[in-house]
Amino acid sequence: MHELTKLFGSARALDRLSLTIPHQCIFGLLGPNGAGKSTVIKILTTLLDASSGSAKVCGFDVASQPIEVRRRIGYVPQMLSADGSLTAVENLALSASLYGLRGATRDSRIQDALEFADLQAVATHLVKTYSGGMIRRLEIAQATMHRPDVLFLDEPTIGLDPVARRTVWGRLLELKSANGMTIFLTTHDMEEADFLCDQLAILHQGLLAVVGAPEQLKKAIGPTATLADVFVAHSGVVLEHGGHFRDIRETRGTAQRLG
Ligand SMILES: Nc1ncnc2c1ncn2[C@@H]1O[C@H](COP(=O)(O)OP(=O)(O)OP(=O)(O)O)[C@@H](O)[C@H]1O
Ligand SMILES: [Mg+2]
Repeated sequence: MHELTKLFGSARALDRLSLTIPHQCIFGLLGPNGAGKSTVIKILTTLLDASSGSAKVCGFDVASQPIEVRRRIGYVPQMLSADGSLTAVENLALSASLYGLRGATRDSRIQDALEFADLQAVATHLVKTYSGGMIRRLEIAQATMHRPDVLFLDEPTIGLDPVARRTVWGRLLELKSANGMTIFLTTHDMEEADFLCDQLAILHQGLLAVVGAPEQLKKAIGPTATLADVFVAHSGVVLEHGGHFRDIRETRGTAQRLG
């Protein structure tokens, strides 16, 4: 993306953001609440127009070639996207239709997705009876049914317990190594960013503060610096506890989010 800028009225959500994401890498976008992370994802997934500047995904321009871009990406939004009043199979069938999968391919992709999400045993249960971790696994499986080249995830493990979180991490690493997928995610979780990401960028008030590999960013701060120290140094926010920048929305239960 080149000099990407987004204005909401007179507010500047993104300010001339230029970034290149390497292929088949897990790229993490960090930054305090309101920094512009979701705005970047919405522009790259063609859901929102930039005010100025340009961005390409898989070589296609998001503004002039949105259909080519959409064909090659998967997207797991910040808010829940699975339908709680349907079963896992029904949610997967909906995604299959959305991506134009039919017949035997459709059926085998639904089976693959259930296996990937480890939901075979509860495939015909309503999703609103699932835990947050099960729902996130289902959503990732839904977003990858068409085998996209790039997967976008906006805060993929928000509100998940440490075990569920690690299971999601395992799935993302599998998509990178087994399917060669490029993964672009946002997170407030420093442990997640450190563990998963090959490259990180920190956004602060719509401006790019720093970009680099986690080890490189830590080393630049000091010999014993953690990623939380890197975050604080580049965004000026105060750490709440344990290296985890809590978002108020995290306190909401999954059930509540499903309605
Ligand atoms: N549709 C909109 N209309 C007006 N302002 C918006 C809109 N969407 C985002 N903004 C503003 O743009 C800025 C960036 O928002 P964005 O949602 O991208 O932040 P974020 O980094 O994803 O934050 P969070 O960590 O809380 O998810 C914020 O100031 C936000 O209020
Ligand atoms: Mg956001």
